[in-house]
Amino acid sequence: MTDLKKINLLTGNTGKLKEIKRWLEPLGIEVTLLNKEFIETQVGSLEEVIFQGMEIIKEKEEIQEPFIKDDSGLFIDDLNGFPGVYSSYFQGTVGNDGILKLMEGRKNRTARFKTVIGLMIPGIGVSMFSGECVGTISDEIRGKQGFGYDPIFIPEGEDRTFAEMSLEEKNKISHRIRAIKGLVEFLSK
Ligand code: IMP
Repeated sequence: MTDLKKINLLTGNTGKLKEIKRWLEPLGIEVTLLNKEFIETQVGSLEEVIFQGMEIIKEKEEIQEPFIKDDSGLFIDDLNGFPGVYSSYFQGTVGNDGILKLMEGRKNRTARFKTVIGLMIPGIGVSMFSGECVGTISDEIRGKQGFGYDPIFIPEGEDRTFAEMSLEEKNKISHRIRAIKGLVEFLSK
């Protein structure tokens, strides 16, 4: 895979671009932003969202160069994995208060963040890399760092929520970094 010299990152999020660049540029891979609308199909897993979305956009936009797309979510065990693939929508509507309400009275508060990164190489196909971070849902909103569900997620082995940790601390154990490391390992081979 070392012959890959350029990868497009499909996102509107420049923070994600910065993060991916930090890992792929040392491998001699240039990373550029591909800001196109990504259609998320209503399917049950992040892998299916990524796979179907990448196939659709490659055909529709006639993309000839390799590109990557990531998708993440919070999966709560006692809610059968909800909000999962709907994490972004749920966060934008009822947010962390909504999760805490749904968790009222539940003993099992285990949950996981998951990220899936898809790498599409036209003519070859899609490879997927995933990363998880296991933890529990807190009883209350705590902390000011981070974004999304960070103030209600306590990673395993910690007392603090992600939002009470520095970005550097979170990045050592986060789902996103674990998925990126899988991609980097694949590209380094
Ligand atoms: P995305 O696919 O990276 O945009 O993530 C989808 C949604 O999952 C986001 O809108 C957030 O609500 C949530 N999410 C993903 N990653 C994290 C994280 O590291 N901390 C908190 N929330 C996250």
